[in-house]
Amino acid sequence: MPLEIVRNDITKMQVDAIVNAANESLLGGGGVDGAIHHAAGPGLFAECRTLGGCKTGQAKITGGYDLPSKYVIHTVGPIYKDGEHDEKALLELCYRESLIIAREYGCQTVAFPLISSGVYRYPKDQALRVAIDVISQFLLENDMTVYIVIFDRTAYQISEKLFSDIAEYIDDKYVDEHTDHSRERIRMNAFHPIVSELKRKKTDSAPVELCECQAMPSADDLNSRLDRLDESFSQMLLRKIDEKGMTDSQCYKKANIDRKLFSKIRSDVNYKPSKPTALAFAISLELSLEETEDLLRKAGFALSHSNKFDIIIEYFISKGNYNIFEINEALFAFDQSLLGA
Ligand code: APR
Repeated sequence: MPLEIVRNDITKMQVDAIVNAANESLLGGGGVDGAIHHAAGPGLFAECRTLGGCKTGQAKITGGYDLPSKYVIHTVGPIYKDGEHDEKALLELCYRESLIIAREYGCQTVAFPLISSGVYRYPKDQALRVAIDVISQFLLENDMTVYIVIFDRTAYQISEKLFSDIAEYIDDKYVDEHTDHSRERIRMNAFHPIVSELKRKKTDSAPVELCECQAMPSADDLNSRLDRLDESFSQMLLRKIDEKGMTDSQCYKKANIDRKLFSKIRSDVNYKPSKPTALAFAISLELSLEETEDLLRKAGFALSHSNKFDIIIEYFISKGNYNIFEINEALFAFDQSLLGA
């Protein structure tokens, strides 16, 4: 998954580079700056002294010393005043400059803290939004895996309104296991007799008598639907990419899926992805709820009202919001696994 939001101590991250939220002197401080210097040992401080400081919005790179990461990229975030002093533009610059340096040094994996959201008082949910927007934009054009490392729960808040909206939606939809199965059984039974009749129609000339309760779409639409009944997940995915006029890379990058996994799905017509992966593609293709359930069924899954992950996905699709990073923020806020590989 090219962009992941994880809860961890950034000094523990096993990545090529971690990013430090430093100050312009680059001579250490508290917060994540202090934690990184403490974990890296005196060698880091000695190298930082040779850099001659760093301007806000800029970034400089050093070795990682005793840290698990090979490099530390030091960037200086803006001190938040009122949002009217270019704070957002400067914070965006921190992420972009750090990513450019990471790319120049051949880093495949990079971990960011939430820059400026501590001592520099940048509102945490806005700081997270800036981080996600700049990083996801960069990842549309670059192959890298980037982690946003949330150190404590309070650092990670989706807007209260969105949180309560989703919580309400979950309450409405969330049913216990057996009710959902009976709903599922009713739906599948209603579907089966028609399908077996129509499949028979395909093999013999006898006209299919459908009662008015089984009002069906036109014959050729039915035939194309029947042709697609045996369509695999991979075939439906590739068909939908074509129908949407997308390229393969646009689709898997927007789904926050890495290239290797996509090529596996593309090359194996019977490949069965995980449910989060199947849903990530449904979001990337901006499928309707019905199309999403169809794509899921081809991977052997169904949207269920007996788990919050599915209900949150259903919430976003029903609102027509297909922003996978906003969906992952919400999934993270509800302690669910994230979308993508
Ligand atoms: N791992 C990951 N994130 C961390 C860690 C850690 N070990 N420690 C703190 N954080 C988080 C904080 O929870 C906050 O969300 O990093 C984010 C940034 O907070 P600060 O470290 O305070 O950085 P910032 O707000 O950018 O202020 C920079 O603080 O430490 C000084 O020298 C630094 O003067 C500079 C200023």
